[in-house]
Amino acid sequence: MTVGVFDSGIGGLSVLKHLKKQLPDEHFIYVADSYNAPYGNKSEAFIKQRCLGICRFLLEQQVSVIVVACNTATAAAVKTIRESIDIPVVAIEPALKPASLKTRTGKVGVLATASTLQSQQYLKLVSRYADNVSCFEQAAHGLVEQVEAGRLDDEETYRLLRQYMQPMLQQGVDSIVLGCTHYPFLLNAIQNIAGESVAIIDTGSAVAEQLKRILSQLDKPLQNSAQEHVYYSSGDIMHAQKMIELLVGQRVKVKALAV
Ligand code: DGL
Repeated sequence: MTVGVFDSGIGGLSVLKHLKKQLPDEHFIYVADSYNAPYGNKSEAFIKQRCLGICRFLLEQQVSVIVVACNTATAAAVKTIRESIDIPVVAIEPALKPASLKTRTGKVGVLATASTLQSQQYLKLVSRYADNVSCFEQAAHGLVEQVEAGRLDDEETYRLLRQYMQPMLQQGVDSIVLGCTHYPFLLNAIQNIAGESVAIIDTGSAVAEQLKRILSQLDKPLQNSAQEHVYYSSGDIMHAQKMIELLVGQRVKVKALAV
């Protein structure tokens, strides 16, 4: 089957990695809305409008399922998306549930965009899964831009990460949730700053499990696994090509997204 995956930019490739690993026979179309990244400082109305445009484009490409590989888009628009299209939609949210089960100190750090942390969806998540632990949230302005530019471990990335992580580490968190799909690409720097004793938790493999469940319920033939995955970007194509190849680790063809 063909599965559409999208994000505000290239961050969702951290989710796609898990999808490809757990579902090697499926065919993926990935859309990076890099021209409009970051979504985290845009209005809810703007994010909804972009998400609906991208979903319509993916429907035209005959996808059977859509994965919203963006926490910010999920928080702002997943309800609208589900109301507007009639194929299954898999969404992503910060991994508070596993973090609250895992923590020994009862203190969990959460890095995400400001709009994810301010959303109703996030507040519901905290009251449902993390009522018994202390959450130390931090809006991590600037990190999405660092990843989009390919600056995964330069001085500025370290400076921002130290600024955002040191207060929560001083509070004694032993788990840090990566509540934005761009952040797993900063894992080396994050783990260096946090130290080995702090668990860094991302949601990519849980999304892959969920997609697997949904695909097993759809009565459709398997796609030819030899079919190449397709990548679209609304940003500069040369830059997108370079970045996607860097993050995916192989040669890919990137097409211009015209929505
Ligand atoms: N990857 C997006 C997320 O998971 C980044 C959001 C943004 O563009 O601000 O939240």
